[in-house]
Amino acid sequence: MECEIENDIQLLKKYITNKDRLLHCVSTAENMARYASLFSIDYNTAYFCGLYHDLAKELSPQEMLDLTESFIKREILPIAYLDFKRETPTLLHGVASAELLIRELGNVPKDRIVAICAHTLGGQGLSRLAKYMFMFDFCEPRRRYKEAHKVFNILIKEKDFDKAYLATYIHQISQLLDKKKNICPESIEGYNEAIAYVTK
Ligand SMILES: [Fe+2]
Ligand SMILES: [Fe+2]
Repeated sequence: MECEIENDIQLLKKYITNKDRLLHCVSTAENMARYASLFSIDYNTAYFCGLYHDLAKELSPQEMLDLTESFIKREILPIAYLDFKRETPTLLHGVASAELLIRELGNVPKDRIVAICAHTLGGQGLSRLAKYMFMFDFCEPRRRYKEAHKVFNILIKEKDFDKAYLATYIHQISQLLDKKKNICPESIEGYNEAIAYVTK
C-alpha cells in the first residue's frame, strides 16, 4: 500500500541528527503502518505518528518547555501534571513534537496530535491510535531490551491489543521502580485503566 509520506523524511532529518534515533523513528513508522489494519487503524495516520512522534527529542530542555507553553495556548487539549513534567522537560518531548509539527505543517488532525503527545507516559481515556503509538514506541523491533520483544509478540503474534497495552505499562513502570525514579501519575492512571480492562 502506498503511503502519502512514506518517502518524506526530510522534516524528520531537519530536527533529528542521531542515526539511532532516526532509525527508531522510521522503524516505529514502518511497523505501526505495517500492522495498522490488524487493529482497524488507518495506515497513513499510523505512519505519520510513528515517524514524527520524537521530532522534538533532540531540542534543549528550555526549547521543549517553550514549545509546550506555545502548545498550551492553542487550547487543543489539556496537558495533565504539568508541574511534574516541567521538572523533567524531556517528559514533554511529545507535546513539543506536536507543537513543532503544527508550526511546520499547519493543520495536523487532532487524533495524531493526541497520540504524539501521549506516547511517552500513556494515560487514561486514550484512543486506540494513542494506545497503539504508546505500545509501538516501546516495542518497535529496533528496541534491544527483552521486554520490547515480549510486548511485540503479545501485540503482533497473539494479537492481544489490551494485554500488550497493559504489559507496556508494567514494563515501563517496573523500569522506573528499578531505577528509583519518580513515576508520573498519568502513567499510573493509564496502568489502572489498562488492568481493569484486562481483568474485567
Ligand atoms: Fe519519545
Ligand atoms: Fe520514540
